[in-house]
Amino acid sequence: MKYSSKHIGGKYLKLLYKGKAKNVYEIDEETVLIEFRDDITAMDGKKKSELKGKGELNAKISAKLFEVIEKRGIETHYIKFEEPNKIYAKKVEIVPVEVICRNIATGSLVRRYPFKDGTELKKPIVEFCLKSDEFHDPMINEDIAEALGIANGEELKKMKEITLKVNDVLKRFLIERGIILVDFKLEFGRFNNKLLVADEISPDTCRFWDAETREVMDKDRFRKDMGSVLEYYKEVARRVL
Ligand code: TMP
Ligand code: ASP
Repeated sequence: MKYSSKHIGGKYLKLLYKGKAKNVYEIDEETVLIEFRDDITAMDGKKKSELKGKGELNAKISAKLFEVIEKRGIETHYIKFEEPNKIYAKKVEIVPVEVICRNIATGSLVRRYPFKDGTELKKPIVEFCLKSDEFHDPMINEDIAEALGIANGEELKKMKEITLKVNDVLKRFLIERGIILVDFKLEFGRFNNKLLVADEISPDTCRFWDAETREVMDKDRFRKDMGSVLEYYKEVARRVL
């Protein structure tokens, strides 16, 4: 990883990590500043674009949703929001596992298994995937995670438990705002021997459908070239903030 720095708020900060849609800057030993960029990608980074204002919307939506789950006792990396498109967060060691939770069958679930698109699942499905564009985020189990040395069984169990709690809290919060939480992806970070919900919770990492019309309000609009991506992100922000 090439290091560089950035002049932010009168200080030069070291760029620790540049992801597909976020930059992570070092504040101190225990703290980072995460900048949400306007870049949007799909198909493991192969499809790319830029949407002016998306970074700001995702930073705001993420900050709010982290606050909502923190209030319900779920520990996250989130510290505070910084106008217009950043959050301060604890400097965690990211576990390279994507934890996916689904309430309605769609997306890759209906491509891989004989579920009917759009049907409500009797109980949420949780999947663990390896965070790797190169290998297309393959589904993994406890044995694979342990053999790869990325997480142990106990950690996976804990991540699943926290994910289901996040699902309960967010599902309720969103439906009151006319949004169905179809599915979402969480990442976790290790910090002082604890697992914290990390990364972001936004229309880039969740599927949100309008509760009345079932209109798509998330990154599927970009993945499937449905148009008006930013307009729907704005509508999510309007309802959530
Ligand atoms: P999927 O149906 O494509 O497996 O996606 C499930 C959920 O995970 C959906 O809300 C989008 C989210 N997701 C990410 O945030 N990052 C990814 O790399 C992938 C594949 C999905
Ligand atoms: N996050 C992945 C990418 O940026 C895939 C996706 O979200 O569809 O390529």
